[in-house]
Amino acid sequence: MSGENNLTRAQAWEESENVGRNASGNPTLGDVIAARFNRRDLLKGLLGVSAIAATVSPVALTASPNARAQSAPSFAFKEVTAGVDENHYVAEGYDADVLIRWGDPVLPGAPAFEPMNQTAKAQLGQLGYNNDYLGYFPMPGTANPSAHGLLAVNLEYTNEELMFPGIGRQDIKSANFDKMTKELADIEKAAHGGAVLEVKRENGKWRVVHGSKYARRIHADTPMEITGPAAGHDRMKTKADPPGRSVLGMLNNCAGGITPWGTWLSCEENFHGYFWGTLEDSHPEARNYKRFGVPDNWQVWGKWDERFDIVKEPNEANRFGWVVEIDPFDPNSVPKKRTALGRFKHEGAAGITNKDGRYVVYSGDDERFEYVYKFVTEARVDTQNPSANRDILDRGILYVAKYNADGSGEWMPLVHGSGPLNAVNGFDSQADILIECRRAGDLLGATKMDRPEDVEANPLTQKIYVMLTNNTRRKADQVDPANPRADNAFGHIIEMNTADGDHASTRFTWEILVRCGDPSIEKVGATFSSATTKDGWFGMPDNCAVDHMGRLWIATDGNSRSATGRADGVWAMETEGNLRGTGKLFYRCPEGAELCGPEFTPDDETLFVAIQHPGESPDPKDRGIFEKPATRWPDFKADMPPRPSIVAITKRGGGKIGV
Ligand code: FEO
Ligand code: CA
Ligand code: CA
Repeated sequence: MSGENNLTRAQAWEESENVGRNASGNPTLGDVIAARFNRRDLLKGLLGVSAIAATVSPVALTASPNARAQSAPSFAFKEVTAGVDENHYVAEGYDADVLIRWGDPVLPGAPAFEPMNQTAKAQLGQLGYNNDYLGYFPMPGTANPSAHGLLAVNLEYTNEELMFPGIGRQDIKSANFDKMTKELADIEKAAHGGAVLEVKRENGKWRVVHGSKYARRIHADTPMEITGPAAGHDRMKTKADPPGRSVLGMLNNCAGGITPWGTWLSCEENFHGYFWGTLEDSHPEARNYKRFGVPDNWQVWGKWDERFDIVKEPNEANRFGWVVEIDPFDPNSVPKKRTALGRFKHEGAAGITNKDGRYVVYSGDDERFEYVYKFVTEARVDTQNPSANRDILDRGILYVAKYNADGSGEWMPLVHGSGPLNAVNGFDSQADILIECRRAGDLLGATKMDRPEDVEANPLTQKIYVMLTNNTRRKADQVDPANPRADNAFGHIIEMNTADGDHASTRFTWEILVRCGDPSIEKVGATFSSATTKDGWFGMPDNCAVDHMGRLWIATDGNSRSATGRADGVWAMETEGNLRGTGKLFYRCPEGAELCGPEFTPDDETLFVAIQHPGESPDPKDRGIFEKPATRWPDFKADMPPRPSIVAITKRGGGKIGV
């Protein structure tokens, strides 16, 4: 069961899903740091700001920032006031326009949204629930690539208590899915997956092009291909798919990435919650499933669709937790689960073309005490012929990160036969390693992080930013320089530097850019710059975006009245010069919502954001349900529930965002 009555779904999932299943004996660097500092210093927390900052990453501290990024303008906008209420807010002089909402038609012929008359058939043609990652693809041949393109949208998960009348939370123990019907479960399955929208900006305003030949809805039963080293492996075979090479649907697709060859990478995150049943401890997959928390019984789908019942179909859960590559320009293309990039709770898959032409994809595994990964292709990206890159993600090396106490770091290859990754430890092939990335990382001694979410490289500076959202389960004796706070309620951001700008290198240096939380409360230990206002600090960094001037923008998940006295939103974050570490609030979500998918058009004149689960509340008995949501944004009509929506932010009168 997912949690208790007095938690929001997101909080309950965190309590349940992110229980910190990493039982490996990897040093949390408590061991490592003990070699440098005694335990009493650690407990005093004094290593906090000054000592670690001064001892970590001398290389990074002396490196001169890239000249182009240094010349990027500081953020110029009037800061939004932090707080929480029913509405959303953007900096003065900007418009934040709703582009499309849950239930609005995507496919030609789809019906208008009727909250009291929902059907799976209607939902399959409409925008599904909880829009997350957004990827913008300029339309080839268009006069203005920043005014006409495709928007790829992840549809992560469903909130039955906000979607459907009269049922409340069904995943909690007391409800036990009593009010869930097959009909409702089918609507939920239809509301998952993704969408492709053709979007156009005319007279300054964005709209979805209806009847577009590119329009697409991907859902929990969309046929997909499994490619790469795990395709066809025995552990990928099911009754419905004896060859182990095709699967229906993608689930819990959180963040993602876009490739230079024009495809959308969509990442399966909390796949474990969709499975139910009980697997015997003696089952060959028991150790694997335990490490990922499968099954977690968040959904009742297994009652009617036996592939989600691990007793009836014990291999199905091995077919989720992958990065899915999709060609957004061909609505008939078969999405491909690229197993070479590993199976874990992928937050995102932001990539960068390395200086030698290989493609490098960074990805965090979003759970407490999990790892940061990167994948380096074997082949170089063919910039002249995009279709030559079609299967480039099937071959390459996956690495897991180790953050050393001295500010250096190592990328350790997850390659069959290297070190302990062999048959003695239950890895008979590369497929075994990819299916059980976490256990492979355990054996290599990867660093247990505070819930790694987005990991994104800045192409102008080659620096890499890692969002670590929080980890309240880290104990004082588990802190390490890369995860320096016990009971880390507000998260932090790590900045990594490649060796010589080489993203394929196995070496890096790192330092903490900022520890999040309220800097006015000493015991929080936040390290925003002193230029940060009372509105400029935030907690729980989750997604991020780098604009085309090389500036970092942070999206958050988990700020609330009780946690930080503020709603989630988008904060600008200075990374260079003497303002480094300054946050500045640009956009604020309506109550209960999380900010996802920040995405700039190539000209930086539009920032698309995805507003997920508006109206959630920590007290679902009274608020945060269909009948009584915490907000009715964006429609504010008594007969309309709140709706997850995509918002286009532009400057009134034109111009780049934040300049
Ligand atoms: Fe789907 Fe880690 O947020
Ligand atoms: Ca996220
Ligand atoms: Ca999150």
